[in-house]
Amino acid sequence: MSVQSLPELLIHDLGDILFAERTILKALPKMIREVSGAEMRARLEQHYEETQQQVGNLELAFAALGERAQAQRCPGILGIIQEHDEFKSEEEPSKPIMEAFDLGAGLRVEHYEIAAYRSAIAIARNLGIPEVIDLLQRNLDQELAMASFIESNAAMALETARANAEAAAAKSASRGGAKKGGARKGGAKKGAVKRGAAKKGGASKRGGAKKATAKRGSTKRARR
Ligand SMILES: [Fe+2]
Ligand SMILES: [Fe+2]
Repeated sequence: MSVQSLPELLIHDLGDILFAERTILKALPKMIREVSGAEMRARLEQHYEETQQQVGNLELAFAALGERAQAQRCPGILGIIQEHDEFKSEEEPSKPIMEAFDLGAGLRVEHYEIAAYRSAIAIARNLGIPEVIDLLQRNLDQELAMASFIESNAAMALETARANAEAAAAKSASRGGAKKGGARKGGAKKGAVKRGAAKKGGASKRGGAKKATAKRGSTKRARR
C-alpha cells in the first residue's frame, strides 16, 4: 500500500498498532508464567483483558474511518519480544533474574505502545477525527497506567529478585563447599562478607559491589 497522505498514514499506523497488540496478546501469557509475585501477575492478567479491549477499540477506529481492520507487520514490537526470547535462551538466567529482566521488557513494550498511540492521536487530531482520537486515547490511558504500575513496583520486585538470586547462589555455594570438605569453610565466610557488601551497594556483581561500596565511602569522605 502506497502511503502519500496523512489519512493513509493514520490507516497505516492503526494497522501497525493492531499488529503490535495482537502480538502482545500472544506474548503476555508467556510473561505471566514467568512472574512469581501475586500482585504483578494479577496486574498482567488484567492488562491481558485490557489488550483484548484495545484490539476491539482499534477495530472500531478502522470502522470510523470506513476501513477494514488490517494489521501491518510491526518489526518494532517483534524486536522487543525477540530480545526477551534471546536473553532467555542465550544467557540462561535463573528464574529471579529472568523476572528482573521482564520488568525492563514489560516497560519497553508499554513505552513502545505509548509512543505509537501518541503519534496516531496527533495525526487524528490534525485530521480532526474526534471518534478516532477518543478510541485511541482510551488505549493510551491503559498503557500509561500499566507503565506506571511496572515502574512503581520495580523497586520491590528487584529487591525480591536480588534476595532470591542470592539465596540460590548461597545454596549452591554451600553444596559445593560441603562436597569438598571442611577446608572450604573459610571461603564460604568470605563469600558471606561479599554478599553483605552487595546488599549495601545493591549491585549484582559481588566483586564489583565490594569495590563500588568502597568507592561510595571515599566519595562520602571527600564531600565532607
Ligand atoms: Fe496495548
Ligand atoms: Fe500495554
